[in-house]
Amino acid sequence: MTVRLVGKVAIVAGGAGGIGAEICRRFLEEGARVVCADKSRSRAEEVVSRLAGVDGAVSFGELDATSPESWNALAADTVARFGHLDILVTAFYSGPAGSVADLSDAGWQACFAATSSGVFFGMRACSALMRAGGAMVNIASTMAHGGAADNIGYSSAKAAVIAMSRSAAAKLAAQGIRVNLVTPGMIQTWALDSTLRALAGAAGSAEQVRQTLVGNVPLGRIGQPVDVANAVVYLASDEAAYVTGAELLVDGGTRTA
Ligand SMILES: NC(=O)c1ccc[n+]([C@@H]2O[C@H](COP(=O)([O-])OP(=O)(O)OC[C@H]3O[C@@H](n4cnc5c(N)ncnc54)[C@H](O)[C@@H]3O)[C@@H](O)[C@H]2O)c1
Repeated sequence: MTVRLVGKVAIVAGGAGGIGAEICRRFLEEGARVVCADKSRSRAEEVVSRLAGVDGAVSFGELDATSPESWNALAADTVARFGHLDILVTAFYSGPAGSVADLSDAGWQACFAATSSGVFFGMRACSALMRAGGAMVNIASTMAHGGAADNIGYSSAKAAVIAMSRSAAAKLAAQGIRVNLVTPGMIQTWALDSTLRALAGAAGSAEQVRQTLVGNVPLGRIGQPVDVANAVVYLASDEAAYVTGAELLVDGGTRTA
């Protein structure tokens, strides 16, 4: 087994989620010490106890990504506990679905509060304390590129994440900090299952909707959280020392179809 993150301290924000928990697991396998930070203490603590047997060290970090103060406290606590901070991953989103016709003012703002502003607050807080050689990996979405008729807030907020990551990469290079993006397509999580159930109906059963969607993926399957996590490991590691401002699509080739 390779151990590409030995000696690194990582914050995985949204670490209790389907993809975030898998990133925590892979980081531990690679030898990092991991702070699994999330708004949901109960689910994050489940992840921490499930992963406690994997090599390395994992602990819970309290975070409301919409709050700059919460980010400042998380970054400062992490450095106080471990002596340094090397990696930030942002793997959270929040906000309702809706279209240009029906998303409310509050819904629009909720989409940006965590999904977009939360990433900015996180990069600002962590870049102030991160040592040279550090890496940030923000999780975007292919919806940021193609748009999403019934998810205008989410797709727009993710487009902002792409732009802010490139801006941060340009600025933080002088500090020796790299900033990159992983952009997933359809990934198997409970959120995908609930989307498939919501789409079922006129379009057929949830399983029929799934098969239709899989038919549009050149690699012929829905992605797994580990597919995303492996891409994040690469970009967070020193193997990507000459990579910054990049976006790695993990979408089974959908955007080439
Ligand atoms: N699952 C997919 O198909 C897919 C596709 C493209 C992109 N993504 C992106 O991948 C990332 C992870 O998604 P997921 O599928 O694991 O979702 P998920 O819902 O399983 O996890 C999201 C996590 O974010 C946390 N969170 C929400 N608001 C927060 C806040 N204000 N502060 C701190 N934590 C907060 C939640 O508690 C949850 O644990 C997200 O950025 C998502 O947009 C997912």
